[in-house]
Amino acid sequence: MSKIKNVMEMDNAAIFYNGKPVLDKVCCGFRVNAVTGVVGASGSGKTTLLRTLSRLNDRVGGFRVHGQVRLEGHEIYGNGTDVYQLRRRVGMVFQKPVVFPKSIFKNAVFGLKHLAPEMKKEFPQAAERVLREVFLWDEVKDRLHKPAQTLSQGQQQRLAIARTLAVDPEIILMDEPTSSLDPKSSTAIEELIVSLKNRHTLVLVTHHLAQARRVCDDLLFLNEGTVWEQGGCLEMFENPKRKETHEYLSRWNVDEPAV
Ligand SMILES: Nc1ncnc2c1ncn2[C@@H]1O[C@H](COP(=O)(O)OP(=O)(O)O)[C@@H](O)[C@H]1O
Ligand SMILES: [Mg+2]
Repeated sequence: MSKIKNVMEMDNAAIFYNGKPVLDKVCCGFRVNAVTGVVGASGSGKTTLLRTLSRLNDRVGGFRVHGQVRLEGHEIYGNGTDVYQLRRRVGMVFQKPVVFPKSIFKNAVFGLKHLAPEMKKEFPQAAERVLREVFLWDEVKDRLHKPAQTLSQGQQQRLAIARTLAVDPEIILMDEPTSSLDPKSSTAIEELIVSLKNRHTLVLVTHHLAQARRVCDDLLFLNEGTVWEQGGCLEMFENPKRKETHEYLSRWNVDEPAV
């Protein structure tokens, strides 16, 4: 049997803030070209897990990692890691859309400008490519040089994803990317997530269990800082191994998202 390829893995990882453990004994993997949902109650450590995968907590005082966190087999907290390169390879999309006070065009190519300034002549094609990829091109092609803040929240979130895509990350981490959006924009982001897995590996933190069921291939259920269960998404919804998983996931068809 061929071994499933995990792009990223945590191996017996423990995360501390000021000496207090927030994640403990975490072993998990993220399969290539799959969407892995991370679910669990508020405070269970979902955001911390994502931020640990992209080393976004490096400057948070009192943050400490034990165990191993690997990207393509390489320990990312090892001495040789170029954190700037790591963040290019492991992109992050936040709950509230993050756009810079610049034009739509400049936001789209923001990462490229820093990564490959010599390619400036090719930026217009690159911007078009990523804006098409997030299904935003037709909506913005006539106002590329207008401020990004003039876009709706849903459009801003797609622009934030376009900016992440421009530097071609292997993994895209999304922390509740639709929770501040209206239903129509949420549907657009869900469709986008499904289309992105052709070329990327995605990790999606969501409180919205129906959303997890619609878009995720795999699921990771966190409970008070430990991985309670990990497996195929539908399998976990329909045939969970643990009582707590069942109790949490069984609310998927209740209207409001789980908290
Ligand atoms: N920067 C921080 N400093 C100290 N404690 C933190 C910090 N960020 C999160 N925590 C704590 O870590 C735990 C997990 O938080 P978080 O990862 O945000 O959970 P979730 O995203 O599942 O709601 C919580 O108890 C939270 O208070
Ligand atoms: Mg969170």
